[in-house]
Amino acid sequence: MIASVTEQPFKELRSAIQSKDATAFTKAYADLTDACNSCHQALNHGVVEIRVPNPTSASDLNTNSMPRN
Ligand code: HEC
Repeated sequence: MIASVTEQPFKELRSAIQSKDATAFTKAYADLTDACNSCHQALNHGVVEIRVPNPTSASDLNTNSMPRN
């Protein structure tokens, strides 16, 4: 099931990398992240939130100011 949801976005990510297309990479990375998160939400694991790394943030881990558990 994970493969069926993420296979296409991973393919797009790979071809963006191979063609060194930064715009396509950004889009493919966002699509893949959406695919990850839509499944986590659908399966009631919305707490697992995958995000595009933000260069201005000190950490890319779950660092939302509100503690979640
Ligand atoms: C088919 C549904 C599905 C897809 C697609 C999916 N996940 Fe998950 N993921 C889950 C479920 C369900 C859990 C919770 C597993 C558990 O609680 O044992 C989870 C948990 C996780 C965790 C937490 C693991 C832990 O031990 O706490 C991470 C990190 C994660 N997923 C990353 C990703 C990433 C990155 C992607 C996309 C490349 C992705 N997932 C795609 C269903 C999915």
